[in-house]
Amino acid sequence: MKKILKALFAYLPASMASGLKTRYRNTRDKHLLNRAYQYDMRFYKSYSGLLGQTKKGVVEAEIIKAYHRIEKGLALASPRPGFGVDAVELVLERTQYYVDHFGPNVTTQRAVNTLREYVQFNQAHHCDVSWLVSRLNRLAEKCIGADSAGGTRRVTRDEITRAIDIDFTAFVNQRYSIRQFTPEPVSDDAIAHAVTLAKKSPSVCNRESGCVFVASSSAQKKALLALQNGNRGFGEKADRILVITSRLDTFLTVGERYQCWIDGGLFAMSLIYALHAQGVGSCCLNWSVEPDADTAIRQVAGIPQDHAVIMLLAIGHIPSDLLVAQSPRRPLEDVLHFI
Ligand SMILES: Cc1cc2nc3c(=O)[nH]c(=O)nc-3n(C[C@H](O)[C@H](O)[C@H](O)COP(=O)(O)O)c2cc1C
Repeated sequence: MKKILKALFAYLPASMASGLKTRYRNTRDKHLLNRAYQYDMRFYKSYSGLLGQTKKGVVEAEIIKAYHRIEKGLALASPRPGFGVDAVELVLERTQYYVDHFGPNVTTQRAVNTLREYVQFNQAHHCDVSWLVSRLNRLAEKCIGADSAGGTRRVTRDEITRAIDIDFTAFVNQRYSIRQFTPEPVSDDAIAHAVTLAKKSPSVCNRESGCVFVASSSAQKKALLALQNGNRGFGEKADRILVITSRLDTFLTVGERYQCWIDGGLFAMSLIYALHAQGVGSCCLNWSVEPDADTAIRQVAGIPQDHAVIMLLAIGHIPSDLLVAQSPRRPLEDVLHFI
């Protein structure tokens, strides 16, 4: 088709050919955009928690969202005694459902721990929560676990001040997209440490959608790089190719239909900095693709169907001396607007 059109255009006067080309491209792009949006919509409808899904991941996300409402309430300067009864009911109901269908896990334990702190807070403020205590005790019996997380933690400004005593300006300014790598392997431990830190990224209601899939073999890396259009001349030199994804089952509403890109993007940036903090170089590889490539990556790399692919990341150790693209930034006044 392309060849026929090219031949046809060659016979036409230049201005007419250019006008027709523009119209052809616009029509084609409108069609492709339509198709891509349809694909995105089917994807969100199928795999998020929007349409009353009762999958494990969705119910877990509902529990986290609900108990996090209580955590947030408890962390206010002066919480109102008796606040958030609807959230408490939701935590009890969803946690019970989860335990009955999937068994206890850290999330059900954290839900119970948060409710325990809620009870203590209310009792300390002479607010009657006897309706909750027996229900919580019954639920807690089913959620036996050693995890003590959930609720609030007391921190001091001094602790925070001590922890931020690093040269963050130099840290940020000495991060570049690295497109040259040594053959030295990046250890699994370094990757695991970086992902542990990336998990500390903020995420909507702390639902942590971000995940990482690590391709290490030449065959896996080659297959992934073949689907991506920005790695020519360096991708194959990377020690690993990471696929950063965002789990759709952690999103629950129409309003959250784009949340995977936001939470996934924040997670990705933290991961890049966490690798940088260990001297590991990285280069983001865009996943700005159409449905066919997005479908293919699931077959090629075993990415689960319900994960949105945020980007690929080529990683490796940095040579002792190298060129990087300057990538100069826009003037501050183009970006910073006090309103
Ligand atoms: C989402 C995303 C996708 C990117 N895709 C590519 C890519 O496909 N190939 C590439 O060489 N660089 C890619 N980059 C790197 C950018 O070119 C780079 O971040 C930008 O020029 C700023 O330079 P710096 O990272 O060195 O500060 C990407 C960056 C982002 C954030």
